Amino acid sequence: MKTARATAHSNIALCKYWGKRVDAPAELNLPATGSLSLTLDALWTETVVGPAGADRFELDGVTHVDDAARKVFAHLDRMWRAAGRDGARPHAHVRSTNHLPTAAGLASSASGFAALTMAAAAAFGAELDRTRLAALARMGSGSAARSIWGGFVRLDRGNRPDGEDCVARALLPADHWDVRLVVVQTTAGKKPIGSTAGMERSRTTSPYYDAWVDGAPQDLDRAEAALAARDLPTLGAIVEHSCFKMHACMLASSPPFTYWNGTTVEVMRAVWASRAAGLDGFVTIDAGPHVKVLCTAQTAATWVQQLGVLPGVVAVQTCAPGPDAAAEVIA
Ligand code: DP6
Repeated sequence: MKTARATAHSNIALCKYWGKRVDAPAELNLPATGSLSLTLDALWTETVVGPAGADRFELDGVTHVDDAARKVFAHLDRMWRAAGRDGARPHAHVRSTNHLPTAAGLASSASGFAALTMAAAAAFGAELDRTRLAALARMGSGSAARSIWGGFVRLDRGNRPDGEDCVARALLPADHWDVRLVVVQTTAGKKPIGSTAGMERSRTTSPYYDAWVDGAPQDLDRAEAALAARDLPTLGAIVEHSCFKMHACMLASSPPFTYWNGTTVEVMRAVWASRAAGLDGFVTIDAGPHVKVLCTAQTAATWVQQLGVLPGVVAVQTCAPGPDAAAEVIA
């Protein structure tokens, strides 16, 4: 085994993944809905995987001995098998650094598992194409499959029980469209429920879950067409519809849950009010309290100004389309 370093950028789902298929082995982590994303230049993870006397996972300088570490080591086992290597996996030291503004609940599992997948493949000498790397990243965390590519990415749900048709693919490169994602951080509390458990509660108790899953293919196809045409109002309407159908599904679960706080709602309303006054920008929110606004490069600074002064907003950051994940052997 060698020492390899990888970088992977986070992504935002413009059409969301929420829910897992139950007609296939859980280990494959197959999504119930396809998703479409934008890879982000300013949010990324750097991971180094190298040989060690014992398994060790260090994140931002802190060694973890928790579930997060167990998931990382299980992913290394998966990557070792995928590399076709015989025998027991050698012990490894995994060192990750999150270049995300703060530990404020901005998705790090997408860039984290994508970087781990790339670094482990390089360290283990695995010769795998990006499609296969994305499938492996997905088994660590669904959204990570999309972070293998830069630009605009689609992850198809597929139907096969072996998951072979659940494929992530680059739709269009980062320079296709100079859009921005303005990330508005609201005060972070502890997540009420992790995304995997939240998806499961939605699936098993929300009366809106089936409607959510059924509507996803149409959202995806329309979003893909609007993206190709660089049609922001059409894409934005689909982005908001996908987001709020997902959050309605959570709210209608039993017991109900939401990732929003009061500021989340105020930011959302401020975006809608400014849009009614003529400024183009569209809201999306993930399994956390932060609000992200999809807009053009020309309007991003105005959004930052307007939203940054709202009570409860702790930081605002602007992201542009980001690059592919990459890896290199360093020793
Ligand atoms: C709301 O990829 O974190 O961000 O596969 O269980 O690890 P697991 O889930 P994860 O879920 C992401 C959910 C989302 C929407 C999205 O990114 O598509």
